[in-house]
Amino acid sequence: MIVKKPPMGWNTWNTFGEKINEQIVKESTDAFVELGLKDYGYEYIVIDDCWSERTRDAVTDRIVADHIKFPNGMKAVGDYIHSKGLKFGMYSCTGVRTCADYPGSFDHEYLDAETFAEWGVDFLKYDNCYKPKTADCQLLYHRMGIALENCGRDILYSACNWGTEDVWTWIRSTGAHMYRSTGDIFDSFQSYKDIAMSQVNKFGYSAENCYNDIDMLTVGMNGSGNVGRGGCTDAEYRQQFVLWCMYCAPLMLGCDIRSISAESKALVTNRELIAIDQDEANRPPIWQHHPWNENLKVAFKHLANGEYAIAFYNFSDNDAGIPAMFELFGIPSNSGYKLALTDVFTGEKIGEFKDYINVKVATHDVKLYKAKLVK
Ligand code: GAL
Repeated sequence: MIVKKPPMGWNTWNTFGEKINEQIVKESTDAFVELGLKDYGYEYIVIDDCWSERTRDAVTDRIVADHIKFPNGMKAVGDYIHSKGLKFGMYSCTGVRTCADYPGSFDHEYLDAETFAEWGVDFLKYDNCYKPKTADCQLLYHRMGIALENCGRDILYSACNWGTEDVWTWIRSTGAHMYRSTGDIFDSFQSYKDIAMSQVNKFGYSAENCYNDIDMLTVGMNGSGNVGRGGCTDAEYRQQFVLWCMYCAPLMLGCDIRSISAESKALVTNRELIAIDQDEANRPPIWQHHPWNENLKVAFKHLANGEYAIAFYNFSDNDAGIPAMFELFGIPSNSGYKLALTDVFTGEKIGEFKDYINVKVATHDVKLYKAKLVK
């Protein structure tokens, strides 16, 4: 299975944690459809940890659905998701137990892949807790990779070892289509900022068929739910979403989409932003760091159509002017070129600029421009 764009969807973990059940998944699937998310490219509904019984079936050794949370079993859930034209994601783990202490797939990889295929699973998030010390992390990801490739169904393989063991250097070889590169996100400015900044020099490894995954988005959580921690302002959610899109990172929503605000919905369905995320050139941005204020950053990205995207991030606690020197992006003064800038959020034409620009950005906010080279 070849995955040509950063995957997009929704995952239960950020909002629901272990409090998941069939009704929540069905209601969220309905909300997904009502919001029209599929029209924007979102397609996976992923059930994270805590969906199974605490022990495997004594006779078949298979993982079984929690009979209270999912009384009709996982295939029925998958059938419902498929009936709405969406794709069905599930979760397991390299270790003997999952991170929340349910059965893991260690030494059961082939049996579990077969079970997932029987249930109609299209996406597997594969976590990394509780593996025996004698077991090699890379080998375990290979094992599940091969098990999935041979289970008789196309299943997108989403690895999750939180960036340990220099994952970017070997994960593509395992068959994984995306790989978590950081620890867990929480719904706060500090959390998403630290996650995004930890990957400034790591996105060169992220490309078609194996994408650096910087975790599910918290946009729209407003501090509630399993990973809610104080929440973010609308400006901070804007900043978070632009960070993910400028990286071409997978866009997995994590908020309660049944009650998403109009503001957050508009953000995660902004077609211009999604196009930057899904840009087929999939180039990482280059960064311009302010000489003395580490909280002011500019990211510059080449797009497939010959234009550029430039994001001005203000991580400081004050409104600020953020300068960008075009020379440092490869456009020196003697090239004779200017940049014609358009604000991606408002569509406003900002004008043509030579050599540099200084952009005013409110605290914890972002400005995002599309740029064309003009004489
Ligand atoms: C973590 C993982 C989270 C979530 C959680 C479930 O290891 O990073 O995204 O899946 O386990 O227990």
